Amino acid sequence: MQRKYILITGGAGFIGANFIREVLKRRSDWHVLNLDALTYAGNLANLADLPPEQQARHHFVHGDIRDGALLTRLFKEYACRGVIHFAAESHVDRSITGPQAFVDTNVGGTCTLLQAALAAWQEQGRPADFRFHHVSTDEVYGSLGPDGAFSETSPYDPSSPYSASKAASDHFVRAYGRTYGLPILITNCSNNYGPYQFPEKLIPLVIDNILAGKSLPVYGDGSNVRDWLYVLDHCQALLQVFEKGRPGQTYNIGGGAERTTLEIVRELCRIVDARQGREPGSSESLIAFVTDRPGHDFRYAIDADKIKNELGWQPAHAFSDALAATVTWYLEHQEWVAGVKSGDYRQWLELNYDRRAG
Ligand code: NAD
Ligand code: DAU
Repeated sequence: MQRKYILITGGAGFIGANFIREVLKRRSDWHVLNLDALTYAGNLANLADLPPEQQARHHFVHGDIRDGALLTRLFKEYACRGVIHFAAESHVDRSITGPQAFVDTNVGGTCTLLQAALAAWQEQGRPADFRFHHVSTDEVYGSLGPDGAFSETSPYDPSSPYSASKAASDHFVRAYGRTYGLPILITNCSNNYGPYQFPEKLIPLVIDNILAGKSLPVYGDGSNVRDWLYVLDHCQALLQVFEKGRPGQTYNIGGGAERTTLEIVRELCRIVDARQGREPGSSESLIAFVTDRPGHDFRYAIDADKIKNELGWQPAHAFSDALAATVTWYLEHQEWVAGVKSGDYRQWLELNYDRRAG
């Protein structure tokens, strides 16, 4: 059987959907098998407007990475030449209020997926071009002080249940490479932003609250630093690692755009005020300093020399342009925002943000 499918897990979420949209556009020979449980963070609307030719190469399966029998069946039915594993519980604040789901999906689900992928790879006769690409986070390295950056050899030191679960999953992926010879790849990236991000993460949450005239919750004093990476730059990096990365290797991916939370929130206020024709500075009055996140990592920064030197990747978008484009996307997709903000989201947000913002 011709091995033409790439299994993508979590392809209805933020980064997974952006990635699928990119590869279907840029690689006419890719056939994507998208396995997603459609949790609160997964939304098929993210892929609903694909052109027919691309939609024909996108096969969606509603299912869970913890379901070993389903995975075995899928690997038998669809000859896969690789896996790109995005599916996860991804929000740090949710991991603090409910860590078990993070253990179950991020650790247990990844192990179930590894086992099924290993069996499929062995049954295919261990093809050397098979790849199991695990999409992970810079949070596994813990927190930086004011200087320095995470490299691929930085020690693991996770702070939250989310980052601990991602660290554990990285260890299992690496172990399957070393123990069984499965051709694995791991990428650890910094904070993504862009279209289709669920409005619980800082940037879409703040845009949404500015538009609604609600308070903008800034944890602590707003001095925590993140290295912001435009999701389309991340997708290009993932594609290059999947196609050209050396099996067994880890690659760090960063945007090279360090900003404090307060800088991000103020910049968003400035852009939205200008777009909405509001008095400059008017939205800044919505900023509310709230109780800090427990175990809040102070700073993340990425040393992206390895991916740059080995694969020639670097971000193509300037931060200010990409942030402005992101605001434009959210302004033009208010229906999408309203759609994903129903049910679970509203209840969780009310409990965890509105109360803390007082
Ligand atoms: P997301 O929360 O937007 O999407 C996660 C997707 O996984 C959703 O579609 C959800 O339905 C699906 N999913 C969750 N549990 C599942 C399960 N048990 N079985 C099948 N599908 C399931 O996440 P994201 O922001 O797109 O992140 C994607 C990956 O990238 C995650 O592994 C995350 O840890 C990693 N990551 C994200 C960022 C970021 O800034 N967003 C940065 C670094 C790494
Ligand atoms: O670094 C990569 C990680 O980036 C990913 O692995 C995670 O999946 C992703 O959620 C993101 O984690 P963060 O915790 O850094 O992202 P978040 O958007 O939740 O927060 C960004 C910063 O903004 C952080 O310092 C906390 C702060 N913050 C966040 C929210 C939601 C606030 O001050 N107020 C808020 O309401």
